[in-house]
Amino acid sequence: MSENKFNRAEEDFGNVLNMEHINLTVPDQQLAALFYVTGLGFTRDPFIDFGTFNMWINVGEQQFHLPKRDAQRFRGHIGVVVPDLEGLKRRLDFIDRPMRGTEFAREEKDDHIALACPWGNDIRAYGPSFGTSLGIPFAQIDTPPGTADGIARFYNEVMDTPARVVKNGGVRADVSMGANQRLVFRETDAEIPPYDGHHLAVYIANFSGPHAKLAERGLISEESDQHQYRFQTIADPDTGETLTEIEHEVRSLRHPMFKRHLVNRNPAQSFMNYRHGHDAFVP
Ligand SMILES: [Fe+2]
Repeated sequence: MSENKFNRAEEDFGNVLNMEHINLTVPDQQLAALFYVTGLGFTRDPFIDFGTFNMWINVGEQQFHLPKRDAQRFRGHIGVVVPDLEGLKRRLDFIDRPMRGTEFAREEKDDHIALACPWGNDIRAYGPSFGTSLGIPFAQIDTPPGTADGIARFYNEVMDTPARVVKNGGVRADVSMGANQRLVFRETDAEIPPYDGHHLAVYIANFSGPHAKLAERGLISEESDQHQYRFQTIADPDTGETLTEIEHEVRSLRHPMFKRHLVNRNPAQSFMNYRHGHDAFVP
């Protein structure tokens, strides 16, 4: 007879295996590199090259995609985990001066460092936590009052991934994304800027099921190729009412880039303190 001493439900996965990248256009690749690579200590993808027109930034098993165009603003904040907050502070000291005249800002909080990217994106850096020592464990999106319940039902019923409404100092929908990631939709009375087209990418196991449900509701915005489609509108699955917008690039597990090995460097390694054998980030 089995003993009921383990919470088996804690090990359950939903349909999303990885919220793999967040795409934010930036007008200046040099400033973007200074912020994401030199400041945050992340790694420019060495294999997929776009010249100076785009840049992929590896963060553990996740990425930022930064094509060159007018700046997009994420409507909420993005959580990143770095291996060492003290090291991060030293790297930020180095970029303070060249960031002058941009919207770059930094502030130490109790458990994280609040950052604004050169174009004002709200990025919060934590030390090892959320089950990772390098990655993008969550993103939180501001949504209008009264939308969290419908958003949670959308992810449960259409995307087949666990989502629940949490009422704890506010109302939010918590959506499970992979092993240790969450996409959070937090209700706010504050004015929310118009959606500007930034997107995120997810890999999902059951690929055709959500596609059929999205197509039935007229929500597929792009049939990209065999392995990918997109949708942008998050609608109440019962009424069809639009609740919020955030483009999802939805990829199957047969997408050529699924489980691609992302190169991550050890950001503590430098010209001044170089040590053989310590170039790579070791989780
Ligand atoms: Fe993308």
